[in-house]
Amino acid sequence: MKFIAKKTQCVHSGRIDDERVHGINTPIYTSTSYQYLDTDERFYPRYFNTPNQWALANKVCALEGAEAGLIFSSGMAAISTTCLSFLKTGDHVVFQPNLYGGTQHFATGKLNTYGIDYTIAASQRTSDIEAAILPNTRVIYIETPSNPLLAITDIAEVAELCCSRQLISIIDNTFASPVNQNPIRLGIDIVLHSATKYLGGHSDICAGVAVSSKENINHIWELAINLGGSLNAITCYLLERSIKTLALRVAQQNSNAQTLAEFLVEHPQVKCLHYPGLTSHPGHEIAKKQMTGYGGMLSFELKEKNSIEFQKKLKLIKPSMSLGGVESIICSPAITSHRHLSQEEQKKTGITDELLRLSVGIEDINDLLADLQQALI
Ligand SMILES: Cc1ncc(COP(=O)(O)O)c(C=O)c1O
Repeated sequence: MKFIAKKTQCVHSGRIDDERVHGINTPIYTSTSYQYLDTDERFYPRYFNTPNQWALANKVCALEGAEAGLIFSSGMAAISTTCLSFLKTGDHVVFQPNLYGGTQHFATGKLNTYGIDYTIAASQRTSDIEAAILPNTRVIYIETPSNPLLAITDIAEVAELCCSRQLISIIDNTFASPVNQNPIRLGIDIVLHSATKYLGGHSDICAGVAVSSKENINHIWELAINLGGSLNAITCYLLERSIKTLALRVAQQNSNAQTLAEFLVEHPQVKCLHYPGLTSHPGHEIAKKQMTGYGGMLSFELKEKNSIEFQKKLKLIKPSMSLGGVESIICSPAITSHRHLSQEEQKKTGITDELLRLSVGIEDINDLLADLQQALI
């Protein structure tokens, strides 16, 4: 049976029936050795084809409206393997600016060593992305909402551009999660996630996902089995279990983040605030068109307060790295997620020392408001 509603997909899609004792959860298949004489299948974890890998990939495919998927051992494994599978020496790739620091570091620090050229577009506007295309461009890579500035890229426009120029379009959909945004339905070729964030949702799993057409996934798979960044069965099972509550968690995170953004943007101590759910956000109209919820991430700068001292004053919201968990956490991207960028790159991207990124959890909104309020005094 095919499920349409996200909440139902989260719980039921991709589950494997337990035919032996009829438990209602997917059994965990830990074997790395599978008998082969009576079958044409060659199961092996690094081939990305063992039962828990399939079950999880199918669940994410249902949520993203994709035909096929691969589960990786981290978001960066999904990003690097996918990009490299469509790029060879002499090719060129266009990245939007405003990317997760690790992705930008991969682009600027590693691609050239394989003879792959890249351009970071002047902005995430489609016209600037188009202006960066060269005759040898093969791939366009976007991330929306972006980490940490919540910049919004018009997904349908970029997909159309790629289609008309016969380029592969890749999106990092981590910040939105498949609950708030489904880029394949807007024409994007390949959707990536750091499953370490919302999909895992409890700050205890490191994983990544790529979903697309069967043809694209087979193509990525050919490199993936060589690079070897697959995920073990137990973590696949834990991730499958986590996704059962994804829609509920994200709904609460959307709602909490909207309330906190509305509170912070009006606060006299707040210099600027980035959240696509605010009508004042420059990408709001595009976000409204392509997202069903604005997500649980926001970033802001304070006027007078030192950002580190402010984080120390918080009692409930922990200054921690990563994002997307059930607990609210805060960080300074300049010294965490984007610390590998040079000062010049940070400046160009708008990541100041004072910028704070808040990953909003599922706690009671009044407790979150009270914590921010007491730290802002
Ligand atoms: C938007 C985004 N994409 C990708 C990644 C990389 O994911 P991972 O740390 O699971 O490799 C991150 C990590 O913070 C991220 O924020």
